[in-house]
Amino acid sequence: MFERRAIRNRILYRGLGVILLSLAAATAHAQADPGIRGGVPGAGQPFASGLTSGALAFFKNVGLPQFMEVEAVDDGLGPRFNLDSCAGCHAFPAVGGSSPPTNNPQVARAPIMAPGNMVPSFLNINGPIREVRFVRQSNGTPDGGVHAIFTIVGRSDNPAGCAIAQPDFSNTGNLVFRIPTPLFGDGLIESITDATIKRNLASDPFGLKRLFGISGHVNTNGNDGTVTRFGWKAQNKSLLIFAGEAYNVEMGITNENFPNEREENPKCATNGLAENHTGFDVTTATTAPDPADIVSFMGLMRFLDQPTPACGVAGRPACSGSVNNGRELFNRIGCALCHTPSLTTGLSPIAALNQVPARLFSDLAVHNMGSGLADNVTQGNAGPDEFRTAPLWGLGQRAFFLHDGRTKDLLQAILAHDSPGSEASRIIDAFETLNSSQKQDILNYLRSL
Ligand code: HEC
Ligand code: HEC
Repeated sequence: MFERRAIRNRILYRGLGVILLSLAAATAHAQADPGIRGGVPGAGQPFASGLTSGALAFFKNVGLPQFMEVEAVDDGLGPRFNLDSCAGCHAFPAVGGSSPPTNNPQVARAPIMAPGNMVPSFLNINGPIREVRFVRQSNGTPDGGVHAIFTIVGRSDNPAGCAIAQPDFSNTGNLVFRIPTPLFGDGLIESITDATIKRNLASDPFGLKRLFGISGHVNTNGNDGTVTRFGWKAQNKSLLIFAGEAYNVEMGITNENFPNEREENPKCATNGLAENHTGFDVTTATTAPDPADIVSFMGLMRFLDQPTPACGVAGRPACSGSVNNGRELFNRIGCALCHTPSLTTGLSPIAALNQVPARLFSDLAVHNMGSGLADNVTQGNAGPDEFRTAPLWGLGQRAFFLHDGRTKDLLQAILAHDSPGSEASRIIDAFETLNSSQKQDILNYLRSL
C-alpha cells in the first residue's frame, strides 16, 4: 500500500519535473531580440572608393561640419523648431544615423536651445527623437503637417517682442509621430532608376506576391511624374529637396528650396529671407561661390556609404549558422517580397554611385500596412495606412523601430506588420508558424545587418 503510493508519487513528481523542465527549456528557447549590436559603427563613413579627392574633401570639410553645426537665431533658427542641428537628430550609431538609444537630445538640450519651453509628454529622455504631425486642425479639417515643438522665445537671442506660444499638444489622440530615417547609402537610393524600381515591384516569378496579396505601388512626384523615394512614405524626391525641407521644417531655417518662414509673426521672423543662401559674391573670375548649406548637406548625404553588415562581406568574418539560416528563412517565408535585398543603381557621374548594388532591403514602394500602423496622413499618393518598405540595412545598430519609434524590440516590429488591411499579414502568419529557434535565427540575421 505504502509502496504503491510511493511509486505513484514518484511518477507524479517525475511527471511534474518533466513539465517544469520543458517549461524552463521553452523560456530558454523563447526568441529574443539580441539588441543593438556592439562594436564599431557599421556606418557613417564616406564611400571607401569611387569618390574623387575633391568629393571626399567636400564631404569632410564642407558637408560634415555644416551638418553638425548647432544653429542660432542669427543663422536662421526658428521661430519654431524641433532641434538645432541636423546631426543631433541623425546621430546614431554615427553622424547620419537615427535616434540614439538614450539621452534624447530633444529632451537633454531643451533647457539650452529652448529655455522655458515645456517638453511634451511624447518625448522621453530614453525614448526616440520625434517630430509630430496633427491628423486634424482644431476646426476638424484634415491637417497632416508637422508642428514644430519648440520656439525661440526664452533664448537670449530671441528678437525683442517675439512672444509666440508652443502648439497645444494636449489632444493626444490627434498626434502622430515620425522618427528620423538614417541617411547611410541615401546617394545610392537616389541613383536607382525608376525603371529598376518599377520592374522589381512588378516582378513576381513564382506568383507569390499575388498569392499573398502583396501589391504596393510607387509614390510619384506630381509635376514630373518620377518616383519619389525618401521619407517614411517615400514622399520626397531628392536629397537636395529633403535637405531644404528639413532645414525649414526641423530647424526653421529658410533656404533657396523653401524660402518662406512657416511662422511669419513679424516680431519673430526678423531675418532677411532666404536665411541661408548661396554666396553670390564672386570677386574674381576664379573664386567659387560658397555653396548654400542645403548643397553641403546634400554632398554629405550623397557620399555616405551604405552600412556594412557584421559578417559575410569583405573584411568581416563569416556569418554564424544561425545568421545564415535566418537569411534563408527571411527569403523563404516572404519578407523579401517587400524587403528586396538589393537594387542596382543606374548611370552616375560619381563612380561610387555608378551601377553598383545597394543592399537596402527595400523595394522603395509603399504598401498598405493595416490599421495598427496607419497614421492617417496622406502624402502624394501614399495613403493613410501606406508606408515605404523600411530599408533594413544598418538595422543591427538601430535603437527604435517603425515610423513612430513605438518599439525597441525587433520582434514587436515584425509582429506589428499584422493588423486588419495589411499586405504583410500572410507573411507574418508564416513567421508565426516557425519554431522559436527559427524565429531567433531571423532576429540574429536582422541584427547582423
Ligand atoms: C528634429 C529632428 C530632425 C532634424 C533636426 C533633422 N531631421 Fe532629417 N529626418 C527627421 C525625421 C523625423 C525624418 C523622417 C521624416 C518623414 O519621413 O516624415 C527625417 C528624414 C530625413 C531624410 C530622408 C532620408 C531617407 O532616406 O528617407 C533626409 C534626407 C533628412 N532627414 C535630412 C536632414 C537634414 C539635411 C537635416 C538638417 C537640415 C535634417 N534632416 C534635420 C528628423 C530630423
Ligand atoms: C507588404 C510588405 C512587407 C512585408 C511582407 C514585410 N515588411 Fe517589414 N516593413 C514593411 C513596411 C512598409 C515597413 C515600415 C512600417 C512602418 O514604419 O510603419 C516595414 C518595417 C519593418 C521593420 C522595421 C524597420 C525600421 O526601420 O523601423 C522590420 C524589422 C521589418 N519590417 C522586418 C520584416 C520581416 C522580418 C518580415 C518578414 C517576416 C517583413 N518585414 C515583411 C513592409 C513589409
